[in-house]
Amino acid sequence: MYRDPVESLEPLHHRHAAIRTLRVGMIGIGTVGSGTFRVLARNRADIAARAGRSIELVMVAARNLERAAGVVGDSVALTADAMQVATHPDVDVVVEVAGGTGPARDWVLAAIAHGKHVVTANKALLAVYGAEIFAAAREKGVIVAYEGAVAVSIPIIKALREGLAANRIEWVAGIINGTTNFILSKMRDEGLDFAAALAQAQALGYAEADPSFDIEGIDAAHKLTLLAANAFGMPLRFADAQVEGITALQGVDVACAEQMGYRIKLLGVARRQAAGVELRVQPVLVPATHLMAQVSGSMNAVMVKSDAAGLTMYYGAGAGSEQTASAVIADLVDVARLDGVHAAQHVPHLGVHAHATNALAVLPRAAVHTSHYLRVPVHAVNQIQAVAASLAEQKVPVRQVALAAERPGTGPQVLVLTGPVEQGTLDLAVHALQARAEVAGAVTTLRVESLEG
Ligand code: HSE
Repeated sequence: MYRDPVESLEPLHHRHAAIRTLRVGMIGIGTVGSGTFRVLARNRADIAARAGRSIELVMVAARNLERAAGVVGDSVALTADAMQVATHPDVDVVVEVAGGTGPARDWVLAAIAHGKHVVTANKALLAVYGAEIFAAAREKGVIVAYEGAVAVSIPIIKALREGLAANRIEWVAGIINGTTNFILSKMRDEGLDFAAALAQAQALGYAEADPSFDIEGIDAAHKLTLLAANAFGMPLRFADAQVEGITALQGVDVACAEQMGYRIKLLGVARRQAAGVELRVQPVLVPATHLMAQVSGSMNAVMVKSDAAGLTMYYGAGAGSEQTASAVIADLVDVARLDGVHAAQHVPHLGVHAHATNALAVLPRAAVHTSHYLRVPVHAVNQIQAVAASLAEQKVPVRQVALAAERPGTGPQVLVLTGPVEQGTLDLAVHALQARAEVAGAVTTLRVESLEG
C-alpha cells in the first residue's frame, strides 16, 4: 500500500510553508497600514506565488487598539508598544507606517539591531536619518526597503536601482507630492480657493499629518532627496535642498503662465552638473503641451533622463491607502525573496554600494541654471521695451516679451521668458530692474523647465 503522491506531498508542502512564511510586524494601522492589511488579505495567493512563500501579518502596534481591532479583527496580535513589534522574535520584517521621525527612528534602529528587515513608507525619516539607518542596516546585513516613500504607486525606486542600472543618470524631475498637485489642479480647473482645495486633500487622506509639509514643499524635498541618492549615488542631502512650496504662488501668475503657453506645477528637480547636483523643489512653468503639464489631481509623474535609455517617464497615483500599500507589499515580496540571501547579493539600499558612494556636492541656489518667467508691473504699456532692454543689459537672454492680458484692478504688466541663465545673474538683473522708474511693483520670478534632453 502506498500513498498517492499528491496526498503524500501535501503535508510536506504545509510543513514547508509553515517554516518559510515571512512573518510581518506592522507599526501603525492608519491610512497606509489598513490598506496594506486589506491588499495582503485580498491578494494573498498571488502575493505568495510572487514571493515564493506566504507573507503573514502576525503583529500590529497601534495607538488605539480598539480601532486597530476593528481593522484587523482577531487574526493578528495587537500591542500598544511599537518597540515590542520592532524586537519580537516572531517577527522577520518590520513594516513602519506610523510616520514621524522621532520614535520611528528608534523603532527602525531597534528592528535593525535585532536583525530584522525593515519596510517603510516614511520619507521624512529616511531623508533626515537615512544615513544612520542605512549604515546600521548594512552592518547587520538586513534590507531597508522604501518604495512606498516616493510617488507611492510608481515603482520609481526599482526603476532607478534596477531597470536603469546600466545608465548614467543626468536628471530626475517630477511631480512628487499629490496634495499640492491636487490643490493646483482644483484651483485651476474648478476655481476653488487654496484653503478649500487643501481641506479636500486632507479629507481624501492625501495630506501629511502636518499639511505644511505638503504645501511648503518639504514632503517633495524628502522624496527628491531619496531620488537623487538613488540616481547619482550621492549621500542623502535633504538639509542642502532648496525648498519652496506653493503658498506664495499667486493666481495671477497661474493665469499669465497659461497666456504664455505654460502651466505651473510643483516640481522636484535633481540635475547633475559638472560641479555638483541641483537639488530643488519649487513651483515652475512647464510647457502646457508637455505630458508633465497633463498630470493632474493627486497623480504623480517622474521623468528620468539617462544616457542609454534616454528620456523615460513614470506616472501613477501619488497618494492613497492601497496605492501606498501596493509599494509596501512589493517591498515585502522583495524581502521575502532576499531574506537569507547573502547581503552582498541584495540590491543596495541607495542604488550604489557604500564604497561607491560619490560625494557630489549640492550646488548653491546661485549656480542653478534654468530659464525663467518674470512678471513686471509697469506704469505704462509702452515701457515693455525698457524692461527687455534692462534685462539684456544685465546679460539675461530675453526670449519672449509680452503684455499680460488686462485684469480688473491691476495696471499693465510685462511678461518675460528668458533663456537659460544662472540664478545669480538673474538675481542681479532683477535687482537692477526693480530699481528702474518704469517698474511699478514687485517683480515676480519663477523657473521654467523644458523637461527635454
Ligand atoms: N502627503 C503625500 C502627498 C502623501 O500628498 O504626496 C504621499 O507621500
